[in-house]
Amino acid sequence: MKTVLITGCSSGFGLETAKYFLERDWNVIATMRTPREDVLPPSKNLRIIPLDVADADSIRSAVESAGPIDVLVNNAGIGLLNAVEGTPMEMIREIFETNTFGVMAMTQAVIPQFRERKSGVVVNVTSSVTLKSLPLVSVYTASKAAINAFTESLALELEQFGVRVRVVLPGRAPTTRFAENGRESQRMIVPEPYETLAQSLMEEWAEADHPTTNASDVAGAIWRAATDPSTPIRIPAGADSVEWARAAKATVATS
Ligand SMILES: NC(=O)c1ccc[n+]([C@@H]2O[C@H](COP(=O)([O-])OP(=O)(O)OC[C@H]3O[C@@H](n4cnc5c(N)ncnc54)[C@H](OP(=O)(O)O)[C@@H]3O)[C@@H](O)[C@H]2O)c1
Repeated sequence: MKTVLITGCSSGFGLETAKYFLERDWNVIATMRTPREDVLPPSKNLRIIPLDVADADSIRSAVESAGPIDVLVNNAGIGLLNAVEGTPMEMIREIFETNTFGVMAMTQAVIPQFRERKSGVVVNVTSSVTLKSLPLVSVYTASKAAINAFTESLALELEQFGVRVRVVLPGRAPTTRFAENGRESQRMIVPEPYETLAQSLMEEWAEADHPTTNASDVAGAIWRAATDPSTPIRIPAGADSVEWARAAKATVATS
């Protein structure tokens, strides 16, 4: 039976992905900053262990206590919506600590066992905002775009050892705790000159006819990335992300 370790399983995509793999008879190591037993259905195939991806000691002890794994899903992440001039450098560093350096550190921690066994898959969760630029998310986009590039280079580096690396790009999912978690952790106010822009972005997102992404779209894409070697290196997840990926491809092809 194969084992997947998933970061950020307390809510949203991570939680859904843990359920998805459990339903398909995998051993699941669901990691959370603050472990909670009540969010996932009880299962003999489930282990919940503490992990903060921005903390080197936490990574070391989580990977040690997890033991051998077949798939690492780097899902944990935090959002940030603000103008650059309204975002303290401390906050920018915090976003990168989790979204970018956390992914790199977790990946680094599992590569030796994958390389030695000549198998293993790393699935990184980034975002559709790296496919189509939006205002007020420049820091968040940069933190995720770095992981797209990291993934593509790393995939070439690890191919010789039979290790695969993929990136899943979810679209906007209003049903997860993402926006709320971002607001709670940042408690920031958009500077007045950018208020109108922020307002129009919110209004656009509130329009009901916009395609969005469900957590199950993302869990399914992560599953494909983990289990199907024929998947492309970048996998858009959700109707909006698929649409943006097609448009981005067309733009590149015609320019
Ligand atoms: N929802 C969207 O619209 C959307 C769109 C594109 C991409 N994404 C990406 O998808 C991933 C999952 O987002 P989501 O929508 O499921 O949001 P979510 O419900 O807020 O879940 C994010 C998870 O990441 C965890 N986390 C945050 N910082 C962490 C850290 N330092 N160490 C370990 N865990 C940490 C959170 O744990 P706590 O409970 O401890 O805070 C939570 O479990 C993120 O990488 C996000 O950037 C989301």
